Amino acid sequence: MVNRDSSLDPEPGLERSRTDDKRPEGALADDRTQDGLRIASRSATPEEHALIVRDQRFDRQHKTARWWHSNDPVATAWYNSVSASLPRGEAFFIDTLKAFRADLPPRLAAEVKVFTRQEINHTREHVAFNRLVQDHGYDVESIDRGIHDMLALTAGRPPEFNLAITIALEHFAAIISRQLLAYPEYLAGADPVAADVWRWHATEEIEHKGLVYDVWLHATRDWSAWKRWKVRSLIAVLITRKYFGNRVRDAIGLLMQDGFDRRTARRKLRAFLWWKPGMMRRMFFEWAAILKPGFHPWQHDDRALIGLDTSPYSDAVMPAE
Ligand SMILES: [Fe+2]
Ligand SMILES: [Fe+2]
Repeated sequence: MVNRDSSLDPEPGLERSRTDDKRPEGALADDRTQDGLRIASRSATPEEHALIVRDQRFDRQHKTARWWHSNDPVATAWYNSVSASLPRGEAFFIDTLKAFRADLPPRLAAEVKVFTRQEINHTREHVAFNRLVQDHGYDVESIDRGIHDMLALTAGRPPEFNLAITIALEHFAAIISRQLLAYPEYLAGADPVAADVWRWHATEEIEHKGLVYDVWLHATRDWSAWKRWKVRSLIAVLITRKYFGNRVRDAIGLLMQDGFDRRTARRKLRAFLWWKPGMMRRMFFEWAAILKPGFHPWQHDDRALIGLDTSPYSDAVMPAE
């Protein structure tokens, strides 16, 4: 449900979304401005796709075990490392989009509002989750400081630069989310409440995975296709590498707090990520799709996974606006 701009040269390889093709010629939906129609052929976001806020609060009385994932310190350390990075990371995404809101077509601006509410809720629940991790004596604050220092490097950069960073990290989040929902074995054996937090978050990450990209298409509408591709791809490689490297570093740090020496921690984590269950190996090509000219997150339509959110909290689902 996004206003899209077709007046610009699409990046080579970008196809019109199938839903765009269904629109009767010359038809204008009430809330679709001329500007909105102009974006349409460059976004693959399904026309009827809507974002909703699932304002879920997970049980604050629930205490997780130190190794809440399958009594496995390695799996636990990985998810803890990712979770510790989220509050500041998601605040950065929200701030980045805020800089573009005033200039967006109404429908896209409305979706940014929903996105913001989703990310605020994710932050709230992950702050609570991170407190549980901290209660076991892990140093979560230093991970948070690391994210702060990394994001401090973006201060004073052009907003489009920060938008490209957000695209890279949202893409990474979306494909991890797809893995989590498509392959339940990743969270099998995890603490049930913790698993619900991850599944709920994954659901909304998939749901809004095209939004930042559509804002980007609008914000860079005066750029050449070549420049758009170059900036997006370069930043995707640099930022994902940096973010992933830091998640690995921090997971190793957490494992060392469990008594592992650095070498063993690194070896075990590498096996976990790349071999068994091997999420990084399994999602590598999906990640690499961001480097293709004409990429759009919704070229991979995984909306069916959104419906899998069957936690007891799904009753709390409510329409966004
Ligand atoms: Fe999120
Ligand atoms: Fe997100």
